[in-house]
Amino acid sequence: MAIQKRSDDPAVQHSRKSLVMGLGLELGLDATVGPGKTPDAEALGVGGATSKTDAVRSKGFLKTLHVWTGLTRVLGSSQPMKPRIWRFDNANSLYYALIDEIASAVRPILDSSRSPMMALPTGNTMIPFYRLAVESEERLGIRDWTCFNLDEYHPLPSGDTPYSFRSYLEQHFYSRLIHPPRHRMELDGTAPDPKEECARYEHEIRTRGGIDLALLGIGTNGHIAFNEPGSAFDSRTRLVHLHPDTLLANFKGAPPVTSALTLGIGTLLEARKIVIVAMGKSKSQAVRSAISDPIHPSVPASALQNHPDVTWMLDQESSDRL
Ligand code: GLP
Repeated sequence: MAIQKRSDDPAVQHSRKSLVMGLGLELGLDATVGPGKTPDAEALGVGGATSKTDAVRSKGFLKTLHVWTGLTRVLGSSQPMKPRIWRFDNANSLYYALIDEIASAVRPILDSSRSPMMALPTGNTMIPFYRLAVESEERLGIRDWTCFNLDEYHPLPSGDTPYSFRSYLEQHFYSRLIHPPRHRMELDGTAPDPKEECARYEHEIRTRGGIDLALLGIGTNGHIAFNEPGSAFDSRTRLVHLHPDTLLANFKGAPPVTSALTLGIGTLLEARKIVIVAMGKSKSQAVRSAISDPIHPSVPASALQNHPDVTWMLDQESSDRL
């Protein structure tokens, strides 16, 4: 199923109540889940305590609940932390779980009266997420967020550019909120001096205390934000040339622009928490290389193996090579 179609899936329109019940089932919160029943989400190789085979064999209450509640962090304390990897049977479950994941990440920050520093992505994968986030704006405390766009095309003409990431976030997120976030930071695609603009952005991130949560998608070639294959793992926010695969995926016809400003991989790895979402078969090779193959600059997302708090949220198709 094409990603765009998923975002239009009528099932996404289901009531919150029925979906929350569905989510409870997939997380093993319903004691009736057990051998022979298939929860919507499985944990794959999480924290070293669960192998793929184990997870598939044992889909019962305890295993699923333990993984979700982060028990493996305790078990794995003497080892570098491995990512949490979640696979969902359907898009609804994934997006609602994503909302829950973000809600639990921002809650303690909001409770301490600090503004959660969020790095936000674009892409088709994220459209349903933004729709649900708007519905949950109060619970997520969005009005108190400080938002940083992950990337932006450059150079952009002045004025509104429909394909810009600024327009994407405006259309799918900010304009739909009753109380938009207090602080919105954007990489300015019209900036005459990209180097200066990137330094300004890095400065904003640093002086505001660093990113709390970076929400990422992944490109078919394994890019994160606009860090294309070959990007240095210690790269900072900078001007990059886009890979032909990326241009093909992002523009139907001739690309109006072939370069962009992006948070660097080094900048992203400094985020305290990273959540990365992949949907669809076209992402399965990138997901596999990023998670299961050795870390290598030819797959920028493999750099996430070096981060202590990464959650992968995958559908069946994007995870079918794991
Ligand atoms: C773009 C963005 C990325 C995004 C990726 C995936 O190139 N720069 O941040 O993760 O595309 O997009 P999609 O969800 O449309 O596949």
